[in-house]
Amino acid sequence: MSRVVVCGSLNMDVVVQSARRPARGETLLGAKISLLPGGKGLNQAVASARLATPTTMLGAVGEDAFGHTLRGFLADNDVNTLGLSVVAGHATGVALIQVAGGDNAITVASGANSHFTKAMMRDTPHRGDVWVAQFETPIATTQAILAEARAAGARTVLNLAPMAPHPASLLKLVDVAVLNEVELAQATKSRLTAASPVKTIVAACEKLRSKGARAVIATLGARGAVVVTAEGATVVAGFKAKVVDTTGAGDCFVGALAARLASGATPMEAARYANAAAACSVERLGAAPSMPTAEEVAARLARA
Ligand code: RIB
Repeated sequence: MSRVVVCGSLNMDVVVQSARRPARGETLLGAKISLLPGGKGLNQAVASARLATPTTMLGAVGEDAFGHTLRGFLADNDVNTLGLSVVAGHATGVALIQVAGGDNAITVASGANSHFTKAMMRDTPHRGDVWVAQFETPIATTQAILAEARAAGARTVLNLAPMAPHPASLLKLVDVAVLNEVELAQATKSRLTAASPVKTIVAACEKLRSKGARAVIATLGARGAVVVTAEGATVVAGFKAKVVDTTGAGDCFVGALAARLASGATPMEAARYANAAAACSVERLGAAPSMPTAEEVAARLARA
């Protein structure tokens, strides 16, 4: 099996669970707080590794206790952390996540993640690898890394989350682009939601394909995903889930997708598997800790 290399963010998630969100200026008592590993990059790496895929993480943490904890969490999940850099003078990324009624709102203090540079790419891409990136670390770094990965014959997955201005040339380096309906609307300046007709979603995905991405996958929450490749468009249905916390579900999808691509699946096959994995992840609290094992995903697929 090929390996997955995730380049991206690591955050300590400060998760506050309450019955509802406080209104502006209101003080709400009775919340529960948890400190949980997160960051889109870390979440995706853990999702891939828990599916028994050789996985490496490249990124940056601060010289502090959170950085130490996140590195340990990755190692405990069999993610290779030799390529993680420590940035002196900057704190490890922290995300404040308010969870209420299964939904979330996230504020990120990027810290060391903003100082991840191409010079910190302490790994060499190989033919057959799957290299994965998101938009929580500098885009110039992502572009330089994806260019090197592509030149070496690796496949590339870009999760355009959270959406950020990026050079038009970036998508030319991408084999599979993954984004949710909000990001798809932003990237294509379209008016669409997760409930929009399939043809509207497909048209937006085709816009991104025309900019260079070989395949585009729109994730649509409980509705599933739409996969658009040169062969056409396919709707991959979502799986039923008892939602506890949707934080990291998109990251679970991306990590599981990368793992399946590394094992030889097509984007369409990989997306069905990733949907099942994401359905497992929303049934537990937190981002990285909620990533499922291969056995859990197999059970979910068997029940469908
Ligand atoms: O996608 C979820 C992640 O976004 C959280 O883990 C948080 O750290 C933010 O990066």
